[in-house]
This record gives sequence, structure tokens and C-alpha cells, in this order.
Amino acid sequence: MYSIQIQNLNHSYDSIEVFNNNFLNLEIPKNQANKLYGIIGPSGTGKTTLLSILGGQLNPKTGTVLIDKVNIYKVGDKTRRDIISVQMQTATALRGTLRENLVFGIISDEKLCSDKNLIDILKKVGLWSLFEPKDGLNTLIGEGGVNLSGGQRQRLNFAGLYLRAKHYKPSLILIDEPTSSLDEISELAITQMIDELSQKSVTFVVAHRLKTLDQAVGILDTSLISTYPELKFYTKDDLMTVSQYYRDLQAGKAQLEE
Ligand SMILES: Nc1ncnc2c1ncn2[C@@H]1O[C@H](COP(=O)(O)OP(=O)(O)OP(=O)(O)O)[C@@H](O)[C@H]1O
Ligand SMILES: [Mg+2]
Repeated sequence: MYSIQIQNLNHSYDSIEVFNNNFLNLEIPKNQANKLYGIIGPSGTGKTTLLSILGGQLNPKTGTVLIDKVNIYKVGDKTRRDIISVQMQTATALRGTLRENLVFGIISDEKLCSDKNLIDILKKVGLWSLFEPKDGLNTLIGEGGVNLSGGQRQRLNFAGLYLRAKHYKPSLILIDEPTSSLDEISELAITQMIDELSQKSVTFVVAHRLKTLDQAVGILDTSLISTYPELKFYTKDDLMTVSQYYRDLQAGKAQLEE
């Protein structure tokens, strides 16, 4: 079994309490083919906070985070990078060339970072047509270069995550809302790439649309955490029974994002 555990979780920002004695205990058989898990919930209910805690970026007030028995707040950045790849909601500032942004930290992986492979991935996420007529992989982005829209930046970040995941083969991938402000076509392409990654690594995705979670084997709904302290991944059938929020989403009555 591969396990992801959080024990005794408490976290608040100043006066805002997000977690209060919550816990998570997910066990996944090593041979389970599809390892896609979704996280949904109304805005402000702790999805991003949970992902940051799991990713080792936000040490909670109390709580032990064990990724396959490894306490991720007790290991160095390098070990953590081998175990976890993260794409957060707020994109990091972009600058330099397109290529530099994509291969940051994995440049030594010549096969993965070949021009051909990078272009293939940019095509998949629907960005190559934007850069090809400019300077291709050498196009400068950010200040003094091409300014990207929110959705374009997200797609570029996702392409970076995809490359890092291919390089590090982490056991856990954490993705925060990759498809907000994306059009239907890029959304589908990215959903397929996420499905591909989740065949190799356990993948947690904070999703904006239920379509992203078509293949999910379990869904954690943060609207439930004030009622049930367990951070539990339910099957879709069980979630229908326990969650009003999920029922509303299915009926088109609630939005994953306003
Ligand atoms: N850095 C911070 N400082 C202070 N309060 C914060 C901070 N980050 C989050 N919060 C608060 O903690 C709560 C949980 O925020 P979080 O970002 O985890 O929610 P979320 O479920 O990801 O929401 P969204 O769907 O809008 O992304 C919110 O009430 C938010 O205002
Ligand atoms: Mg969030």
C-alpha cells in the first residue's frame, strides 16, 4: 500500500481557522492503475491550504504529514522534490525565455528537454501557435517580452509541471486548479495529460469543473470538513449521499468557482 496521512491537523491564518483537528488517511494499492483524486469545495474552504500543507510549502500549526511514511517537513528540499511535484494556483512570476521557463531545474535531462519534445508539449497545451511566429523557444516572456494572459500562464505552468513530473517521476503530484480560465480545447488536452500523469503518480487535483474529475477514483469535498473531521476521499456515489454541495454541483446549481 502507498499511503498519504495527515495526523492531528490544525491550521489558522491570524483569526481565520481553516483546519481544526482534521486528519487524512488515504491508502492506495501499489498496483492501482488509475491514481487520480479530486478536491472540490466552495471558495475559501481550504483547498489551496491543504495542497500547500501536503506539498511541504506550508508547515501547519500542528500536524504530521506523512507521504508514504516520510515526514515531508523533516526532509530537505531535494528529497521532497523527488517525492512531490506541485503546481500551485498562483503562478510564479515568469521571465527569461520560453525554454528557460520550461526546463528550469531539469535542463540536464537532454532527451526530455529537446526542442522537439518541448514543442510537442507546447502544441498539446495549445501554446505553440502563440510562440512559433515570435522567437519560438527563445521568445522572451514576462517583463520586456510577451505578456501572457492568465490562462496562457496557467497552461505554461502546467507544461512545466508535466515536464518535471516526467523527469522526477514523483510519487505524488499536486495540482491546484489547472483549468480555470481555460477554453474547452485546452481544458480537454490538459485533462488528458493529467489522466496520463495519474497512471504513474498519485495525483491530487483541485478542480474547477467536474469534467476534469471524470476519471477520479475519489473526491475530497472541503464543504464537509466542518461536519466530519476526516479529510476523506469518497467515491462519487458516496459523495452524492453525503454532500449537498456535490449534489448541487451535479445538478448545475452550485459553481466550483464564482
Ligand atoms: N496567506 C493567507 N493569509 C491569510 N488568510 C489566508 C491566507 N491564505 C488563505 N487564507 C484564508 O484561509 C481560508 C482558506 O483559504 P484557501 O486559499 O485554502 O481556500 P480555497 O478553498 O483554496 O479557496 P478558492 O476556491 O477561492 O481557491 C480563506 O478564508 C482564506 O481567506
Ligand atoms: Mg484555492
